[in-house]
Amino acid sequence: MLNKAIAGELQAIIQYMWQHVQWKGIEHYSVSEGFKEIAVGEMKHAEKIAERLWYLGGKPTIQPAPIFVGNTLEEMIQFDIKAELEAINLYKEIMETAQKEGDVATKEIFEDIEEDEEEHHDFFTSLLEK
Ligand SMILES: [Fe+2]
Ligand SMILES: [Fe+2]
Repeated sequence: MLNKAIAGELQAIIQYMWQHVQWKGIEHYSVSEGFKEIAVGEMKHAEKIAERLWYLGGKPTIQPAPIFVGNTLEEMIQFDIKAELEAINLYKEIMETAQKEGDVATKEIFEDIEEDEEEHHDFFTSLLEK
C-alpha cells in the first residue's frame, strides 16, 4: 500500500510539474505557480512515505503511476482532480489499516498528508468554477 502511495506521489510530481510548464492563458502566473507549489508538496509527501516504508523494511518504488498531463487546461484539471481523489481514497484505506495494526506513526503521517491532498483537491476544483 505504501508503494502504491509512493507511485501516486511520483505521478503527481511529474504531472503537475509539466502542467506548470505548459499552463497558459488566464491568470497564467498565479495558477501556474499553484501547480508548481503543489508539485513540490507532492515531492515532500513521496519522501515522507518512502522514509516510513524504508523504516518498516520495504524498498521505495521508482516507478510512477501512469501520468496524464492533458492538452487543454480543463483536461489538465480533470486529471488532477482524479489523481487527488485517488490519493484521498487510498490514504483513508492506509489509515484504517494502520489503525487496525496498531501502527500509530503511519496513521499520523497519513493524516497530515491526506489533509494536504484535500487542499489540493479544493484548489483544482476551484479552478473549474471560474
Ligand atoms: Fe501527495
Ligand atoms: Fe496532492
